[in-house]
This record gives sequence, structure tokens and C-alpha cells, in this order.
Amino acid sequence: MDWDNLGFGLTPADYMYTMKCSNDYFEKGRLSRYGKIELSPSSGVLNYGQGLFEGMKAYRKEDGQLVLFRPDQNAIRLQTGAERMCMPSPSIDQFIDAVKQTALANKRWVPPPGKGSLYIRPLLVGSGPILGLAPAPEYTFLVFASPVGNYFKEGLAPLNLYVEDEFHRATPGGAGGVKAISNYAPVLKAISRAKNRGFSDVLYLDSVNKKNLEEVSSCNIFILKGNIISTPATSGTILAGITRKSIIEIASDCGFQVEERAIPVDELLEADEVFCTGTAVVVAPVGSITYRGKRIEFKTGAQSVSRELYSTLVGIQTGLIKDNKGWTVEI
Ligand code: COI
Repeated sequence: MDWDNLGFGLTPADYMYTMKCSNDYFEKGRLSRYGKIELSPSSGVLNYGQGLFEGMKAYRKEDGQLVLFRPDQNAIRLQTGAERMCMPSPSIDQFIDAVKQTALANKRWVPPPGKGSLYIRPLLVGSGPILGLAPAPEYTFLVFASPVGNYFKEGLAPLNLYVEDEFHRATPGGAGGVKAISNYAPVLKAISRAKNRGFSDVLYLDSVNKKNLEEVSSCNIFILKGNIISTPATSGTILAGITRKSIIEIASDCGFQVEERAIPVDELLEADEVFCTGTAVVVAPVGSITYRGKRIEFKTGAQSVSRELYSTLVGIQTGLIKDNKGWTVEI
């Protein structure tokens, strides 16, 4: 492996984990070589998009020990999403056990310290056959993994975001607040349009007032003004990011006032800094945001608050900073 040039491309690790569910009962899961899966053409996921995914990372510490970051939070979020999508979900213990087994079976794919992480992708899908619109009769919980580096091709350099005001990511009452697979394909058009114009990703506005910040296609958003850090409240259309939640806690511990609220797009004009958070993205500084033809620029760099938050979070995740919060789980 060329550990120095890891991006976010797929390099499938050797093993995946599969656990099937029928009649609300998850049978014992098992590891197998990574490979194709058999799926009925009439499965719920292929026909009606009944599926959820999670994203999490395993890191290798300086002493060689492997660690997961807050896996219980992914397990809980999957359960919340499963309830919304009418699916049964693994218990927290089943979920964590599956993720641990997958990470350990693939330990040779966890990059050396400081070079990246093993991205772990749990999926829960309606795999049973169905024709009329209804919950699938069977489900499959699957976990695969790939070593990764930085999510954006910019690496750790600042992102240039484009505020989208034609397409929306989520609507009130929809499933934007959970990690449904169906939330992701509809943003591809907006992303590819923005990328063709040289932007890194798209920042969405709320679909009712077309005024308040929602999130970026692949991550949550934060703005900093003075000592106040704000992020859109998770009121149903915003994904409850685990990195988002962790950064809120770290920023509060660092003495910032953190507000979860509606943020009108006009506030970008006043912001000192803007940054994104997510499992894949970690904490990414935003250098500029373009809205209705106007480009607004923000502070980035070694002295920025986003860099301080990034270093603290990654320090905890990789064992360089003592984890007083019980967020890391050694495996
Ligand atoms: C993650 O951050 O883990 C995600 O699921 C976002 C995805 C678009 C890569």
C-alpha cells in the first residue's frame, strides 16, 4: 500500500461481515472474504431504497493498538434510522461486535499512525423480495471496510463551497435526519454541477424558507463569530453527525459558546470562520462560500479555531491526546 497517498477511493479490505434478519431476529453474523453479494431483483432496497448506512473509522495508535471512535453512537443512530425506515436493527452489542470483528479481520489495512484510517461502512438493507410498497420481509446487515486518507481532493486545504438554491437535500417530515441511502443519490446532480464549476461541495439551504443553512452533501457545517460557534439545529432535516456532536462538546470545553439554531445564510457575511465536520471529512476548513454570484472568504490556517478543533479531535481519536471522555474503544 502507498500509505502516503491515500484518498477516499475504495480499496476493499479483505473481509466483510454479514448478518441476516428475518421475523425481526438477527441470526449469528459471520465474516467472509469481501466480494459480491446475492440480492433478489425484487429486494426492498433495490426497488424502494429501503436502506441505511453508517460511517466510522478505526485508527492505529503509536503503540500499534487499534481504536474505534464512539461506535455506540453509530449503533444508536442506526437504530433511530431503522425505526424511521421501518426496518429491524441490530442491538448495540451486535453492531459493535460486528464492527470490531470487521476491523480486526482487516487489521493489516489500518494505516500506520498519522497516515489515515480504516473507514468502516455498516449497511442495513431490506434484502427480502417485495413487489407492493411495504417493508421488505428480510434484512441484511453488512459491514465492509477500506483504508482512507483525506475525503476531499483538497486534502487539508480550505474548501470552496457553493450555496445551492435550486436543489434541496431534505424537507421537513422527510428522512434527512437519518442516514438513509436515499438521501445521497439526489444530491449527486448538485455536487457534479458544483464540481464542474471548480467548487469542492455544495451547501444546502432549508427547503421551506430557502434561507437557513442546512448542511453540505457529505458533512455538517459550523460558523464562528467571535467566541460563538453555531451550527444548524438537528430538527429533522439535519443529519445528527457524531463528529458534529463531538466538536460541539470539544468547543464547549475550549470555552466557546456553542449554539444549535437556525442560521440565516446572510450570517455568512459576518462569520470569521466556517468549517465542516463529518466522519469522512473530520474537520475541514472552508476558505470561501459562493452565494448568488458573491464569494465570501473566511479565515483558515494554522492559527484558526477550526485547526485547533481538528487537532484536538484527531488527537483524541488517535491516542495522542488522553481520552477523558471514554470516546475511544480499544480493540
Ligand atoms: C461519513 O462521513 O462517514 C459519511 O457517511 C459521508 C459520506 C458521504 C462519505
